[in-house]
Amino acid sequence: MENLKEILTEYTEKIDAVISERELAEVKATLFGKSGAITELMKNLKNVPPEQKPQVGKQINDLRVALNTLCDGKEKDLHRLAIERSINEEAIDLSIDGNFKRIGTLHPVNQIKNKLVDYFVGNGYIAYDSPEIETDYYNFQALNIPLDHPARDMQDTFFVSDGILLRSQTSSGQIRLMEKHKPPLKMICPGRVFRADDDSTHSPVFHQMEGLVIDKNVTLCDLKGTLEGFAKFIFGTQTEIRFRPSYFPFTEPSVEVDVSCFNCHGKGCRVCKNTGWIEILGAGMVNRRVLENCGIDPDEYRGFAFGMGLDRITMILCAINDIKLLWENDVRFLKQFD
Ligand code: DAH
Repeated sequence: MENLKEILTEYTEKIDAVISERELAEVKATLFGKSGAITELMKNLKNVPPEQKPQVGKQINDLRVALNTLCDGKEKDLHRLAIERSINEEAIDLSIDGNFKRIGTLHPVNQIKNKLVDYFVGNGYIAYDSPEIETDYYNFQALNIPLDHPARDMQDTFFVSDGILLRSQTSSGQIRLMEKHKPPLKMICPGRVFRADDDSTHSPVFHQMEGLVIDKNVTLCDLKGTLEGFAKFIFGTQTEIRFRPSYFPFTEPSVEVDVSCFNCHGKGCRVCKNTGWIEILGAGMVNRRVLENCGIDPDEYRGFAFGMGLDRITMILCAINDIKLLWENDVRFLKQFD
């Protein structure tokens, strides 16, 4: 009987001290295994005098049940602790600041360009890519600007070598398109252009988008309707446009196109320099000589063309006062245009 009490005390302590399932399995083996303490007691029962057997047998069984219950209890505790530990270890603290990488955005000029390309392509124009390095012929001569023509001074050009230059205008795309494709034609040609110009509104590299429509019976009214649609799309539906007479060698007649100020709606403000109007592009009816240079009969076909500065339109729309901001790639500036 003493022995049984000792076993109970000893193993109660042992089970209590267990901190892992492996340790518990070991303790259980020393109790209930082949030569475990309880197993031995059961074996020795046969040496107990018959009259004491029922009582001793009951005591041993009680001890077995008590130790078993302790082991089961411990097992449950260990299991619960394991779950608690894994919950703590795997927990995500949602209150901690995330370490996210900021996703960049398209440059504001590209955003405007894409918007305009979508608009014109949606109206049946093709978007045409033309080389940035050009010959004098495509950039000037075919556009009715001969070698000694004073109009060359309008655009201070970067020359690569004799007769080869960085295109000073996307108008060269008109010639390349008309040489390859027969009318009717509707195209836009967006891209970079280059001029030896450098101040707060001019950059040596900037972006233009050319437009060209060639068909039978195209008139100045078509040009006006087209540009009005475009102006309302980009500057808002209240926008009006006006044509002012101008001169470009490749168009006749030529016009300078203004839009009513989207900021003050014509009253006069800082954006429109108090005039109520903002100059946004040059345009006109394609000069007969340009059509002839491309093998198109000017008595059969006519067309209009327009050319706009994408950086300028971006600056107007986004109230940017220095073109350099568009080229510095300062993230603090760019992220304002998400
Ligand atoms: N190429 C001209 C420039 O860069 C802009 C321009 C004016 C384009 C009239 C045209 C046009 O197509 O018809 O200043």
